[in-house]
Amino acid sequence: MTEKNVDAIDTVRLGEAGPETGVQGLGCMGMSFAYGPSDVDESRATLERALELGVTLYDTADAYGAGENERFLSPFFKAHRDEVVIATKFALAIPPDDPTRRVIRNDAPYIRDAVEASLKRLDVDVIDLYYMHRRDVNVPIEETVGTMAELVREGKVKHLGLSEVTGDELRAAQAVHPIAAVQSEWSLFSRDIEAGVVPAARELGVALVPYSPLGRGFLAGAFANADKDLTAGDFRRQQPRFTGENATANAALLEPVRAVAEAHGISLGQVALAWVQQRARVHGLPVVPIPGTRRRGRVEENVAATRIVLGEEDLALLEPIAAEVAGDRYADMAFSSAGRE
Ligand SMILES: NC(=O)c1ccc[n+]([C@@H]2O[C@H](COP(=O)([O-])OP(=O)(O)OC[C@H]3O[C@@H](n4cnc5c(N)ncnc54)[C@H](OP(=O)(O)O)[C@@H]3O)[C@@H](O)[C@H]2O)c1
Repeated sequence: MTEKNVDAIDTVRLGEAGPETGVQGLGCMGMSFAYGPSDVDESRATLERALELGVTLYDTADAYGAGENERFLSPFFKAHRDEVVIATKFALAIPPDDPTRRVIRNDAPYIRDAVEASLKRLDVDVIDLYYMHRRDVNVPIEETVGTMAELVREGKVKHLGLSEVTGDELRAAQAVHPIAAVQSEWSLFSRDIEAGVVPAARELGVALVPYSPLGRGFLAGAFANADKDLTAGDFRRQQPRFTGENATANAALLEPVRAVAEAHGISLGQVALAWVQQRARVHGLPVVPIPGTRRRGRVEENVAATRIVLGEEDLALLEPIAAEVAGDRYADMAFSSAGRE
């Protein structure tokens, strides 16, 4: 057992039927995928430090480095099997004729293959939280969730989650099997889910797991312009809001974030994380953000944000930001819930 800090972060239940986790999780994607080279030893130390601080929800997906991220996390998960909640995802298939492409698959044969492959790579008997990563509109969601529910009955998966679904899709899914959590982008820069998905989640007793709560690092000041600051293969160079004139315009939107940070003596990233965490009170549902980091110092900084409460004046200053962001969160918004709402 890991020696826990006496002041480990608070815990919350992920949806009415879900597991209990720390109020902040850890996004592990960047350790193997999408955000440039990683230091393997520092990533491992980050996982251990997060656990010491009370972080128990660890987020990965089969698509992160074509299985590489799940393989990387496996020794950590096995060493702490009873202390961690393992969350992984299926749906982004690699077509046999072109390993560089991804196609969305939500059909039963694909899901059955995907879960076996994830269990094997993770080298565990059961996945604690299994998400549909993206929605394939050619397969009725009732059918997809029906297959996921069979995995629960068979003991391969404990709880179900959905990523980037609309409010209506969530309602249809919940009618088939309890959904513990919806994972979607939610941050000072990305608030589209507040229109349909968040009210549906609150109504149904489903938790929200905000991904990219730091705006993929932009809100924390980790980079200002993806073209100039990030390496060639970095995914953020494909995201319209982080490149060219949009990046310049969006950097100016950080002024109120900076003002709030200075007023409280905290970092920009902590303002962004405290704001997301406070959505739980504002909207009345469990919220467990999963900021991604590969560095111990940053996980400490991020976890500390769970204890920061922003005042009404701070919230008012931050309120207008999202509506002014230039550029979409993805180059093709059809893959996001907002593209279908
Ligand atoms: N469901 C989905 O479709 C989906 C999509 C995207 C992501 N996700 C999940 O959500 C997790 C989090 O999202 P994300 O990683 O895209 O974005 P994020 O959490 O908003 O930001 C991560 C970036 O911020 C940097 N960072 C973290 N803490 C920082 C701090 N205190 N100060 C300065 N920079 C800091 C990280 O760099 P370092 O790593 O170098 O610290 C990394 O580049 C992912 O790991 C993944 O598990 C899911």
